[in-house]
Amino acid sequence: MDGFPIFLEFIQNQIGVVIERCRWRPLQSFLKSRLQKLSIEDLPSYQRFLIQSMPNSQKEWEELVQNLVVPHTFFYRNQADFQALAKLIKESIAQKPSINIWVAGCSTGEEVYSILLHLQEEGIFSRISDLHILGTDIHQEALGIAQQGRYSSPKIRFIPQKYHKYFQKDGEYWQILPSIRAKPKFLYHNLLQPHPPPPKGKWDFIFCRNVLIYFHPKTKIEIIRKFYQSLTENGCLFLGYSEHFDTKALDFRLENFAGSYFYRKTKSFRSPSHLLLSLQTYKLAQDIGPAWINRQKTKSSNSILPSPPSPNYPQIRQLIQQKKLQEAQQQLLEYLHRSPCPKGYILLADIYVLFEEFALGIEFYERALQLQKIPEVYLSLGFTFYSLCQYSSAVSYLQKRLSFEPKCALSHFYLGICHKCLSQPSSAKEHFQKARYFFSTKENIDLKYTTLPLLQGSRNQILKTIERELE
Ligand SMILES: C[S@@+](CC[C@H](N)C(=O)[O-])C[C@H]1O[C@@H](n2cnc3c(N)ncnc32)[C@H](O)[C@@H]1O
Repeated sequence: MDGFPIFLEFIQNQIGVVIERCRWRPLQSFLKSRLQKLSIEDLPSYQRFLIQSMPNSQKEWEELVQNLVVPHTFFYRNQADFQALAKLIKESIAQKPSINIWVAGCSTGEEVYSILLHLQEEGIFSRISDLHILGTDIHQEALGIAQQGRYSSPKIRFIPQKYHKYFQKDGEYWQILPSIRAKPKFLYHNLLQPHPPPPKGKWDFIFCRNVLIYFHPKTKIEIIRKFYQSLTENGCLFLGYSEHFDTKALDFRLENFAGSYFYRKTKSFRSPSHLLLSLQTYKLAQDIGPAWINRQKTKSSNSILPSPPSPNYPQIRQLIQQKKLQEAQQQLLEYLHRSPCPKGYILLADIYVLFEEFALGIEFYERALQLQKIPEVYLSLGFTFYSLCQYSSAVSYLQKRLSFEPKCALSHFYLGICHKCLSQPSSAKEHFQKARYFFSTKENIDLKYTTLPLLQGSRNQILKTIERELE
């Protein structure tokens, strides 16, 4: 599509998000349909339309943004962070009876309400005279849902039973009680714009979890620098599980409480030139997370360490199958930051997908493919896009897997499901039939590299599903 690379850069400059290669094709078809609908000749003209006709093109801009960002979220995500927050508030409550919390990139609001419900259960509300909690996002529709605090039943399944009392059942939906809903404020805000201040003072806590993974590293560090400025002294920043940065880049100190890693603002703020120097270290840090950062406290990043022994892959596969994900991740990260290898990347990607960190999962599968074209990875990518309900992308990866191994029963099975979801019953039937045939002719469907597609169910469970689909 003419002008597409420039358009990608434009998006990156406007909202920070880097569009991964695997999302280019769906984005291009979306853009084509917009050009047609608006009778705009080409992409550069569309870009001009977006820039020049603001605020008239606000609606168009919203439509576009909704296609670019990933609003995936759920209640009680990375709950260790909420426990750490409660502990930090309790510790400071005597000197500081008012608290300001900003949830940047709050999507449909589950994170904001999880914080509120947790603080309520911990008896903190009654002890704070003033609590300001602000949720912001660039996705207007998501903010509308956040404001209503009304969620469908599947969303509630992540919430511990004891919190159900904070919801009113409304048919198929569950709505947060008005007394809780009245507390937060939700606002439209683009993280690339100046950051919003609280009503008084600065923010005590900023949550920006699972947002910056989609951003260019340079943009990320700029945003983190602005968070630094928006925080009170000793204020804390919570990022997503896999979004850690090198604390040398800014005067933050990485702290850890019961599985939650967060950054505490320390004294002075360094100059931007220092930041640029730190970018390279930061780039190294961004994909390997807390394990690597902790080691930095004792060893210099330039020190030459002996290569660690190769990981015990069968053991790691077993850990993943037993859902001991953090243990498996730790073992892999220890090894991978020194010796990148496709086998390790694939298992790490499996873990990220299981953590529902889909963007990272996709990134690591792609890294594995860059090192070695292992066809099984296309099956995992297909499975990942299927999990994201992006069925057309899933179909193209699964087809790619079949181009190497036409008898891959699992690929036919997931193709059957994807075609069904795409309302293509005859293709679905064809693939379910092939899956049944190839499952019956092959004793063993063990996968050599990935653990993922089989975690959905055993061979027998999958066969039962196929029989049901073909009835
Ligand atoms: C994956 S969701 C994360 C939601 C929540 N923080 C969580 O951890 O579950 C990422 C959110 O970041 C928002 N986002 C992306 N780019 C943004 C930007 N430039 N400014 C503000 N929000 C942005 C998206 O709209 C999306 O709702």
